[in-house]
Amino acid sequence: MDKFRIGGGRALRGTVMVSGAKNAALPCLAAALLTSDEVEIAGTPRVRDIVTMEKVLAALGESCTHAGSVTRIVSGHTGTFHAPYELVRTMRASVLVLGPLLARRGRARVALPGGCAIGARPVDLHMLALEQLGATLRVEHGDIVAEAPRGLHGADITFSKVTVTGTENVLMAAVLARGRSVLRRCAREPEVTDLAELLLAMGARIDGVGTDTLEVEGVDALRGARHTVIPDRIEAGTYAIAGALCGDPVTVAGCRPDHLGALLETLRAAGVEPEVTASSITVRRPARLRSVSVTTTEHPGFATDLQAQTVALMTQAEGVAEITEAIFESRFQHALELMRLGARIEVSGRTARVTGPTPLTGATVMASDLRASAALVLAGLVAEGETVVDRIYHLDRGYEAMEGKLNALGASIERFNPGPFV
Ligand code: UD1
Repeated sequence: MDKFRIGGGRALRGTVMVSGAKNAALPCLAAALLTSDEVEIAGTPRVRDIVTMEKVLAALGESCTHAGSVTRIVSGHTGTFHAPYELVRTMRASVLVLGPLLARRGRARVALPGGCAIGARPVDLHMLALEQLGATLRVEHGDIVAEAPRGLHGADITFSKVTVTGTENVLMAAVLARGRSVLRRCAREPEVTDLAELLLAMGARIDGVGTDTLEVEGVDALRGARHTVIPDRIEAGTYAIAGALCGDPVTVAGCRPDHLGALLETLRAAGVEPEVTASSITVRRPARLRSVSVTTTEHPGFATDLQAQTVALMTQAEGVAEITEAIFESRFQHALELMRLGARIEVSGRTARVTGPTPLTGATVMASDLRASAALVLAGLVAEGETVVDRIYHLDRGYEAMEGKLNALGASIERFNPGPFV
């Protein structure tokens, strides 16, 4: 199993380029199931979740090829409709094929995603909304079995909770449903908007893009399209936080600062003075970092996917920061690992109280999920001595070439694999 060995305490200087957004590319790849024409998605990062989605599409008869960051999906014109558990269990977002399969092939069998390191993550809202569009759904032998033999029809749907992939799944089903759908209380994350832009280019009729109410007029068929996904705001935010911890300075380039409003506000409150252009953020470590309390919420609020990295940042800030996680119920596994490095954190319910600044010292820590891993790497950058981050495969799901990008800024991160028995 790969690990990172990080030599801490170095200043970071230079420019880091952000990759395309994994969470935008995933639904865009799934949207290729909605047409028999070719779909080309540019900006797909070469990370494991994208490879998994390509495997899911291949299992469904599609042919995916990629050259650099461009993925081309050509329909295999098959009626295959089964996304197997071996793939879904490695990536919950595989469930994004459910809506497109139902809409275009009239049925879907998609393994029900199981447990998750960051708390209960059901897909009941995806299923309820697809039922409202006329599908019948049941769980059988661990799979969601969905059928719409006479096709889907439009419906007025209100999500009882804001869900990102739920909105995406149902939107992809509604664009080919008969008649008009109104989807209310939709997620407004930039990745949802990006998917809607692709669907519009494919010939879908959607009003209200970017708002929480999407009005969809179903069409009979969609055509192929070429689309470039938005830059990864979570990757950009992670490197901006690295800049706040040890930037001298760090410029995060090729990003969309307008997608990072809540983080920029937090950095400013912490005494960091980010310099922002239309496509870059330059951050340097201030003489004194101040604690800031943050509560994660849906976009445009503070992203839960930047919560762990913010906890790492607050270990170096003066005062007490209360970081409250309002989206997922148990997303603080990084706190215990950060404490192994010397951080002072008390977790109570959904809030982590971080008292800083504490000098961190290197140790071996264990990554538990994608963003928790990023927080441990950030802490390793400021810890004195050597930090080993185990289970780096979590990071590889979503960060393209993280060690290469950080090393180019002056970090010392070595990937190593001690072999199967260590
Ligand atoms: C997406 C992102 C993930 C991010 C999350 C929240 C992708 C591939 N992943 O995940 O990185 O952390 O949004 O911004 O885009 N819920 C239900 N029932 C459902 C669906 C969701 O109760 O059917 C709950 C979840 O348990 C959670 C909340 O709703 O508490 C939000 O989850 P959701 O927005 O669906 O997260 P994902 O789309 O899985």
